[in-house]
Amino acid sequence: MEDETLGILASGRGSNFESILEHVEMDILTNVEVGCLVSDNPQARALKVAESRGIHSETVDAENLRDRKEYEIRINKIFKEKGVTLIVLAGFMRIVSPYLIEKYRHKIMNIHPALLPSFKGLNAQKKALKYGVKVSGCTVHYAEEDVDAGEIILQKSVPVKENDTVSTLSDRILIFEHRTYPKAIQLHADGRIEIEDGRTRIDYSGDWEKKWDKRQKKFIEQQRKAWKDKKVYKDVFE
Ligand code: GRF
Repeated sequence: MEDETLGILASGRGSNFESILEHVEMDILTNVEVGCLVSDNPQARALKVAESRGIHSETVDAENLRDRKEYEIRINKIFKEKGVTLIVLAGFMRIVSPYLIEKYRHKIMNIHPALLPSFKGLNAQKKALKYGVKVSGCTVHYAEEDVDAGEIILQKSVPVKENDTVSTLSDRILIFEHRTYPKAIQLHADGRIEIEDGRTRIDYSGDWEKKWDKRQKKFIEQQRKAWKDKKVYKDVFE
């Protein structure tokens, strides 16, 4: 099977991007390489992450471009040059238009910090708290023309605590985003995802998940250390 080359789109912090890179560096994600990062925001921390890890990055500023298509033609050119086979939206604040979606049908993934179809759009964690749900989480899905729509690949639930703030709930979800996104990418790269009637069917045969969990252990150990001083540490790691 051909290696998967990722083209990452990110607008801000880039922590999901970072966790994907760490999974590659730790040989947890296999047959996957990160080809490049494109950001629409010259101030994005994600650009610094790329620089520090030797990943090719470019800023494509949308300001002087007439429309979304023109913007995406620029992005597509970069992705073509880098041989990108899978586009990974990691906190990308622009809506992807049909131009790119059609070119990369079922080859664009997104992560959303809620259990879709609940709480689409911005501030999903705030919406979840306001609604009073007792469980939230994250969803990795293929991107479609509509925002936060498309076939769901993986979901991970986390409890919502009575004393949660937007910040603590976001952190608790983020810890699992960092584990779930790489897993979905590996499933895609391994050709394990079939799509039928708007649903995915995932082939976990041959102890796929057991093997993945075993490989991912060292990332989780690293996470444990990194989150040691955060409020949600106890909820997630103990
Ligand atoms: C994440 O919560 C992700 O689910 C959402 O945007 C946020 C991006 O965070 N789509 P980061 O830039 O990956 O740190």
